[in-house]
Amino acid sequence: MRKNVVIYNRLPAPLVQQLSEAFNVTVIDTQGNVDEQFQHALLHAHGLIGASKTLGRHELQHAENLEVISSVSVGYDSYDVPYLSEQGILLTNTPDVLTQTTADLGFALLMSTARRLPELDAYTKAGQWTKGITEEHFGTDVYGKTLGIVGMGRIGAAIAKRGHFGFDMRILYHAGSRKPELEKEFKAEYRDLESLLQESDFVCLVVPLTESTRQMIGARELRLMKPSGILINIARGPVVDEAALIEALSNQQIRGAGLDVFEQEPLSSSPLFSLKNVVTLPHIGSATHETRYAMAERAVSNLTAALSGNRPQDLVNPEVWKG
Ligand code: DGY
Repeated sequence: MRKNVVIYNRLPAPLVQQLSEAFNVTVIDTQGNVDEQFQHALLHAHGLIGASKTLGRHELQHAENLEVISSVSVGYDSYDVPYLSEQGILLTNTPDVLTQTTADLGFALLMSTARRLPELDAYTKAGQWTKGITEEHFGTDVYGKTLGIVGMGRIGAAIAKRGHFGFDMRILYHAGSRKPELEKEFKAEYRDLESLLQESDFVCLVVPLTESTRQMIGARELRLMKPSGILINIARGPVVDEAALIEALSNQQIRGAGLDVFEQEPLSSSPLFSLKNVVTLPHIGSATHETRYAMAERAVSNLTAALSGNRPQDLVNPEVWKG
């Protein structure tokens, strides 16, 4: 019997074709009534593949045949993992393939915020460059500064590498455990969160969203940062108390922020949008043609393995795997 697969986000056509050769595939039409189509398809689904959808007890109550969800993302905070495990549903993700691309974006955001690129691009294109620029357009140096990385996983380490080798930065980090090999490779120094915030010129958040990282940066933590400090968030929006951040940026309590992620996504209106000292992006950490294709390929491979009785490469809840 061919198993049923539901694709709930767009996948590249060759990968849809690949899945169609092995499974009965339903592609959710994102222009139509997504929830209705999804719930209908779920009744017979053995596998789901997609991203950016909250999936837990409520959404999956009629998913009686579901064996696996293959997420096209490294982060899995939108899934109720304990519930999936309780139901015997495997969850897979796509680590590794997006590490370098996401670190590139983190660094691009850091540079753009420090040198005010979007603001000065808009200034130039608006025809306001009618005489030589003055101090009011100046940014701040990146080279040789102190970079504090909160969360030293794969992406954190890739950012440390860029900072250390490319920009001669002093690297501080805060993480759940010490990383002796990275301390050696990048001369990275471990700090508790408070010291990292106090000593860093740039604070880059790269932690997964969990109950212990939710709102880990609030009014108190922002007050610990240097007045010249810049906060970069490429982790998840809820890691930061956004109202407190808006206040700190409005009062110029810190110099600026570069944000790829927000408490609510997508976001079409926010007090952040009227602040000059913040650079905002629509969650594009992994969004390049090459990387999104590689993520989709990895997710298809995980899904195919699970539905064929083989252990998928990237199991989030390995305790569910029965072999
Ligand atoms: C991820 O994969 O978790 C990135 O944030 C892209 O969604």
